[in-house]
Amino acid sequence: MSPGSRIVRFRVNGDPVEVGVPEHHTLVEALRYALGLTGTKQGCDKGDCGACTVLVDGRPTLSCILPVHEAEDRDVITVEGLARGVEPHPLQDEFDRHGAAQCGFCTPGILCSAAALLDESPAPTREEIREALSGNLCRCTGYTKIFVAVEAAAARLRSAP
Ligand code: FES
Ligand code: FES
Repeated sequence: MSPGSRIVRFRVNGDPVEVGVPEHHTLVEALRYALGLTGTKQGCDKGDCGACTVLVDGRPTLSCILPVHEAEDRDVITVEGLARGVEPHPLQDEFDRHGAAQCGFCTPGILCSAAALLDESPAPTREEIREALSGNLCRCTGYTKIFVAVEAAAARLRSAP
């Protein structure tokens, strides 16, 4: 390992991982460049856009401003981990049905933020959805289809056996 690098161990989508990364790297860099998990997007890279949102111990987290060593021993869920086996997460399915993704760059982060919301609040109001996604910027959709898709996913999850 090169000087200035370190080994960091954590879990990604349920699997233990070990990465050797430069000390200054962030979690999004480790995910994308060390682990090949390119679903997580690197947008502004300074904590403004939400594109890099993943779940760390269940909480939406901006992976572009989290030094990777702070992920040590923690559980990270990326957009690749939201699906249930071969079945997409209801959020992914409803985003598809409602045309809630256009260019798609914001979508992985929005899906992670929305998944955390629905875990905590199975029947969120439109205002609660708006608040939960307020850190995730979308240049394409105008947000309405995103909110409708989250509501539809919430209804499906509530009615799931
Ligand atoms: S890439 Fe992390 S907030 Fe924009
Ligand atoms: S779908 Fe393009 S930024 Fe949101």
